[in-house]
Amino acid sequence: MKEPMLGSNPHVGRVYYVERGRGLPVVLLHGFPLDGRIWDAQLGALSDRFRIIVPDLPGFGRSSVDRPFTIASLADDLRQLLVQIQALPCVLGGLSMGGYVSLAYITKYPSDLLGLMLIDSRAEADTPEAKQNRDKMIQLVRTAGAKAIADPMLPKLLAPAADQRNPGVVAHLRQIMEACPRRTIEFALAAMRDRRDCCPDLPSIAVPTLIIAGEEDVLTPPALAHAMAKEIPHAKVSIIPESGHMTPMEQPDRVNAAMREFLAHFPQQPPPT
Ligand code: MLT
Repeated sequence: MKEPMLGSNPHVGRVYYVERGRGLPVVLLHGFPLDGRIWDAQLGALSDRFRIIVPDLPGFGRSSVDRPFTIASLADDLRQLLVQIQALPCVLGGLSMGGYVSLAYITKYPSDLLGLMLIDSRAEADTPEAKQNRDKMIQLVRTAGAKAIADPMLPKLLAPAADQRNPGVVAHLRQIMEACPRRTIEFALAAMRDRRDCCPDLPSIAVPTLIIAGEEDVLTPPALAHAMAKEIPHAKVSIIPESGHMTPMEQPDRVNAAMREFLAHFPQQPPPT
């Protein structure tokens, strides 16, 4: 594991990441209001064959942030990190909000990516109702903190039987969510509220794309995954049984298997940048 490193953009502060393994760089972005720990099972298992890189996006986990960000600026921050650690070209994957950042990234920097993984995510912008809900959540986090966000969100993130299938997952997820700083939650809610609609970009995604969705995901249901796959020329869908929105934590073995199969098709030593 690497020590925290200083991002070169002074506006985003310190960007922390962990990496393990050698070979094809595979970058995994967490969702909201989470951090890189949601990928612990992938970091552990897939690093036998791949160079797994897991950043904490600015403001999350061990990365700090001192001003508001956008989904597009998170993609820029990520690019700076990947250039600095010589991890390009790579396969980029993101869960939910991490998927929004991944879609922004491929639109801005298409030649950086060999492949894309969209995990429990969507391409659409927020609806007017969803935007209003973001504003309410911003007020809530200002007055009541991260716990007030985690409490109503947790049941939507996990399948009802998640803790029976994978004991401890609820407590671990709660711990990650409640540790998220208030200001980060506020900035992220505004960034997601204001993100652009990426649907028009989907047909021009030229790289192989793996779309993963939990069978019981109520936030980004499988129908959304299939709809995205119809628009992306080289897309494959993997629906993960017995899982809600948090597929990498709820069904790590199944997610690892789907990713391993997808990643095996890329050259294992990427061409020099
Ligand atoms: C996430 O899991 O990152 C969030 O559910 C995304 C969102 O709120 O749009």
